This record gives sequence, C-alpha cells and structure tokens, in this order.
Amino acid sequence: MDRVLMPETGRPWDDIHAEMMDRGANDAKWRDGKTAVYVFNAGEDVARVQKAAYTAFMSENGLGPLAFPSLARMEEEVIQMALGLLHGPEGAAGAITSGGTDSITMAVKAARDHARAGGRARERANIVLPQSAHLAFDKASHLMDIDVRRIPMKDDGSYQADVEAMSAACDGDTIMMVGSAPNFPHGIIDPIEALGEAAAAKGVWLHVDACVGGYFAPFARMNGVPVPNFDFAAAGVQSMSADLHKYGYAAKGASTVLFRSEELYAHMPFDLKCWSGAQMKTPTLAGTRPGGAIAAAWAVMNYLGIAGYRRLQGMVCETRERVDAGVRALGFEVLGAPMLGITTFRHPEHHSFAVYGEMYRRGWFTSVTREPPSLHLMLSPKHAEVADDYLADLKASVEAVAAGSTGAKVEARYS
Ligand SMILES: Cc1ncc(COP(=O)(O)O)c(C=O)c1O
Repeated sequence: MDRVLMPETGRPWDDIHAEMMDRGANDAKWRDGKTAVYVFNAGEDVARVQKAAYTAFMSENGLGPLAFPSLARMEEEVIQMALGLLHGPEGAAGAITSGGTDSITMAVKAARDHARAGGRARERANIVLPQSAHLAFDKASHLMDIDVRRIPMKDDGSYQADVEAMSAACDGDTIMMVGSAPNFPHGIIDPIEALGEAAAAKGVWLHVDACVGGYFAPFARMNGVPVPNFDFAAAGVQSMSADLHKYGYAAKGASTVLFRSEELYAHMPFDLKCWSGAQMKTPTLAGTRPGGAIAAAWAVMNYLGIAGYRRLQGMVCETRERVDAGVRALGFEVLGAPMLGITTFRHPEHHSFAVYGEMYRRGWFTSVTREPPSLHLMLSPKHAEVADDYLADLKASVEAVAAGSTGAKVEARYS
C-alpha cells in the first residue's frame, strides 16, 4: 500500500461514516447469513444488547478494578456463571481474557509455572496435543520456548484424540496435555474423561480447549444432545478456555480462562514491583482490558439466560442436522459424529477446495479443513434461514465442478 498521510484537518463524521459503510460493501455478507466463520450471528436483538452494553462501558478499563468495581463485579459474575455451567468445583477461579488465544496462552503459562514450582521442566518444557488442537497452543509455546508434540488423531474415522499415543508421548518435562471440546477443524469433542485419566496417571495438567463449545455444549446437553463429560466434571481437567465471543454471543474481545482451584489460578497473574511506575498486577496477557467487552459479555448472558441459550443453540443443532442430511444426500461424507455447531464434509469424487471455490463465487464465505481436504461450516442461529439456499448452491457447485470447473482462485488460496 502507498504511504497514507494523516489528513491535515479532520472532516465531518457523516462523511467518514459514509466512507466506512462504502468500504464494508465488499466484505463477506455475514448479515445475510452467507458467512459461516468469523461471525456468530444470533440476531438483531442480541446485537443491540452487545452494542449498547459495549458503548456504555467503552471508556472504562478492566485493568483498574478499584477504579471500576462495576467491571470487576461483572467479570466475577461472568466467571461464576461460566464455572456453574462447566461444573467448576468449589474454589474454582478464572478471568476474562481478550479471546481464545489469550486464554490458551495464559493457561499454558500457568501450567508451566505450576510445573516449575513443583521442580519440573525447569530447563525445557513440552506440551502434548492432538493434531487437531488449535494453533494458539503453538503460538503460546513459541512465545515461551516450549516444545510442541502434536500426535496424530485416532485412525478409526472418529477424528478424536488418540489418548494412548498422547499418553506415551508424555515425559518428565511435559507440562500440559490438551483436549478440545470441540476441535475447530472437525468440530468433534475429544474423549476428555479418558484424557483426564491419562493425564492424572502421568501427573500432567490437562487443559480442555472449549473455546468453541464452552458456551454451547452445556445447553446442547440440556436440550437432550448426548454430550459426554468434557469439563471440570472430568477429574483430570485442570483448566479450560471458553470463548464468550463465539457461541457465548458476546461482542468480540471476550473469552474466559478457568482453573480448577485458586491454587492453580495463582500461577497465571503477573506482578511486578521493580520498575519506576506503581506496582501493577495483571491477571491476563493484556494490560488495558476493554470495559466494553466485559460489560457486553455480562449483559448478553443476563439478556439470554439459560432459556435464551437453549433456544439459540437448539436452532444451531437443528440447522447442523439439516445441513448434514442435505450434504449426505449430495454424496458428501460428514467427518466423524459432530454434535454441536461445526460440521465438516468432503466429496468422494470432487475436490473439496474446487467445490469451495464454486461456493465462494456464489457469495458464500465459509472455511475449509486441510486434513482431510473438506468443507467446513461453523453455524450460527441465523443459518436456520439460509440452510436451504446453501444446499441448493452446494448442489449447483458440485455440478459445476463435475462439469470441469476448478474453482481455481480460491482453491489456490487454501492448498
Ligand atoms: C477450538 C479453538 N480454540 C481456540 C481458538 C482461538 O480463539 P481466538 O480466535 O478467539 O483467539 C479458536 C478460534 O476459532 C478455536 O476454534
């Protein structure tokens, strides 16, 4: 991009607003439900609550709980609601972070410092995770010079973590094992109970990455979906990440990181006196913590309540079942047995990325999975309205690929 110089003088907001709207005109059409990644569209009413709550506390800063006891109380209540949903035992603790990557980074940091406090992994630490776990673990490990041991998934078509192989990969320097609930690439919940037992047998911390499922799976279960134990109800789970800004339907910039006990939580905050400024203790990676994100999360949870989340997650599950049946009817294979809001599918004859390219041409912005090459959807309540259109366009896309189209442009981007 050419250098852009700051304007010498400002200009009216109306002009600026019009230009911003104009720029957004070419963005993915998430408001129409044509995006199934990046955005969680729970409807106009939820968006209104997010925006009003966010702007009401937009200037306040969660870094200062003494200055803003209102935010400190909202954060604590969000954490307590989260722990209530995820079977946190008495004394469990947590914090709001800026997102899943932040939550995961802080959990890895806490696990590392916990291991070091116990005299382990002082020289070099490693974490053991399934191949499907989110790359935020690699980012965190890169920052902290921790080795990552990615273990192939079980070879039985379940797309679940291979507990035995993961257990065998642990050694005296392993500070954490990871399971996902669900993983992002396939939308499948790992066998968390079994991972917990394996981690406990090795004396290793188990983190459950429920960034996608933390505020979904509890409500799906209340609606009758047979969700296996995936949270603190499984004995070996020491920490969890659960994103408010995904299926918690909060404004972006909000996740939760949760610990089984205060003692484990205590390894997370950073406290420093030896600088010129005042002593500052920060619980998470951020310094300044946007008050708006905390307030919006608290407001949406109170606006929806259990009944609201059950209704929305019920819509998402019903839509996913409809999409799964529809893609199967078109000859696709659905990977594993998804039960929440993500589904991943591939065609036995036509390359998924070529089909993706055709869908992209038809205005759909979704995602793909690389292993194996497949189409990927992370569904929102809004998709209940457009699932039939999606399936009709998918049929046309498969036909176009069968007739020789390669969906070239987008295929190149993903392969
Ligand atoms: C399973 C899982 N974990 C972690 C993350 C990272 O979350 P964030 O993008 O909020 O940092 C994601 C993001 O999609 C995810 O799907």
